[in-house]
Order: sequence, then structure tokens, then C-alpha cells
Amino acid sequence: FSLREFTRQLPKAELHLHIEGTLEPDLIFKLAQRNHITLPYPDQASLQAAYQFTDLQSFLDLYYAGAGVLITEQDFFDMTWAYFLRAQADGIVHTEIMFDPQTHTARGIAMETVFAGIARAARQAKSELGISSYLILSFLRHLSQADAFATLDAALPLRNQYSDLWIAIGLDSSEKGNPPAKFEKVYARCRELGFRLVAHAGEEGPASYVRDALQLLNVERIDHGVRSQDDPALMQYLADHAISLTVCPLSNIKLKVFDSLHQHNLKHLLDRGLNVCVNSDDPAYFGGYLLDNYMQSAQALNLQQADLRTLAANSLRSSFLPKEQKQTWL
Ligand code: ADE
Ligand code: ZN
Repeated sequence: FSLREFTRQLPKAELHLHIEGTLEPDLIFKLAQRNHITLPYPDQASLQAAYQFTDLQSFLDLYYAGAGVLITEQDFFDMTWAYFLRAQADGIVHTEIMFDPQTHTARGIAMETVFAGIARAARQAKSELGISSYLILSFLRHLSQADAFATLDAALPLRNQYSDLWIAIGLDSSEKGNPPAKFEKVYARCRELGFRLVAHAGEEGPASYVRDALQLLNVERIDHGVRSQDDPALMQYLADHAISLTVCPLSNIKLKVFDSLHQHNLKHLLDRGLNVCVNSDDPAYFGGYLLDNYMQSAQALNLQQADLRTLAANSLRSSFLPKEQKQTWL
């Protein structure tokens, strides 16, 4: 009975996952062919060879380009269904999936197409695989707040149709120079509308962005948040209020937030009593799905069964599932 099998069998939620970041090179090529799109790479191997990132932006450039092969409802379904099969293999019981509609609507894809494909896969995952999910519509922070408002307005007519899934709002893309304050008004509006709120903060950006995401945007969870360590008072606040940090170890190595997994602060945050959990972020680009993130972290940071149990329990506790439903897993 290996540590991997122990961890696989722990009920786990994945709370920080960009569905466009699950698009594997083979599916990129398959969809490009199906949609008569010519890629700037002759084959899968040369595309994959380009996955050598120096920072967040160098990744985002390829990630947005890769998403350009998604045209039809079936494309969004195929991408999302492939993720659910991986999730099942890793022992995930619940997932809260981020998607970036602006990446698609800017290319002339209808908002309905994006929702319909992802939602069909999520509903099928619930009925056929027993995996529940929610959707987190995420605004791209390199674009304006006006663009975020327009995206919200374009999505709201679909809210009733997808009310079983779309319950939350997120904020992602280029962090530096795009602080939480830029989105204060649209977050206030989303809050009035009754959405749950999360935001990326403290990945490449400073600890002050984590504070601002909490104070100005009123988010309940911080995506990444690893740079919080630079601010002792913030660390105390995060611990006292059990604020969830959705940490993504392999992502942080690939995007050079830390030099190696041995230097990652996951274990430090855990030992300081912070509510951290492990997630895969963009697994097709970062070399591992959820269970790989757990296992490589365990190996590099000498995590024991008790740590892995805590991380898995934190993921479920920090999910947006109703209390009664969480308790069936905890
Ligand atoms: N979009 C997809 N992955 C992201 C990440 N790790 N940080 C910010 N935006 C993202
Ligand atoms: Zn992310």
C-alpha cells in the first residue's frame, strides 16, 4: 500500500484549476485539425518543447494561443470531459473549475457555447462519475474593469440555466501591475448578485495584493497566496481567520515562483497553521495533475500521511459545497 495509493484514496477537492489549462497537446492538435486551424508548430513534440517558461507571462502567452483551437460546444465538452477522467483517476470527489470567457468571446465565440460545453461535461461527470463541480467565471485582470463588467453582463442571462454550476467569480492572468483595486467595483457588483468570490493574489505579485484581495474585493479564498509569507501580520490574519490558500506547487516551479520544490513554502504554511490545499492550476502545461502535485510535494518536502490528510481535508473544507455535503467526506 503505497503513499500514492493512500493519497489517491483520500477524498479530495480541486479548487484551483483553469479548464483551458487542461488542454493537452494531443487535444490541441486534434481540435486544430477538426476546426481547420493551422498551428504555428509542426507537431505535438515541438509544441511541447515550447513549454519552457521563465515567468507567468511567458506561460500565459502560450496558454491563450492554445485556447484558440476551442471553437464549438463539442470542443469545450471534450476538453472538460478529459479533465474529469483525470480527476476520477486521481480520486477527486469535487472540483471548482475556473474558466476565462474573455479568451473566447474576444475571438467571436458565443458565451453560450463556452458555458454549454463545459456544463454538459460537468453534469455528465456528476451522473456518470459521481464527481460534483462548480464553475468559477474568471475575469482577465490584464483587461479593463469595463471589459469585466461587459463579460458579467453577457453571462448573467445564462445564470438561471446554469445555476447548479456557476456560483462563483474569479480573477486571473497577469498579476503584476494589475492589482485587486482595479476590480473593486465589479467585485462589489458580483457580491450584490450573490456570487462567491475568489481571486489570484500573491503568486508573482506582492503580499499587499493578498491583503487587497481580502479587504477591497472581499474574496473568501486566495488562489496561490504563497507570497503572504513576506508579511508576518498578514500570515497571522490568514491563520486566525482560516482563509483558504489554493496552492499550486508544480505551477510555482514551472513559473519560477520558487527555484525548486524543495524550496517551496507549502509545508511552512501548513506548519504555521494556515488553511492551505494543493491544486494543479494548469496541469497540461505544468507536468502534473492533482495527485502528482500531492506526491511530488510529499517527496520534496517530506510530507507525512498526517500532512496529506490535512491538505485533502482542507480542500474539502474550503470548497463552496453546502456544509452537510462536505461533512459526508470529512
Ligand atoms: N491563468 C491560468 N493560470 C494562471 C495562473 N497560474 N496565474 C494567473 N493566471 C492564470
Ligand atoms: Zn491559477
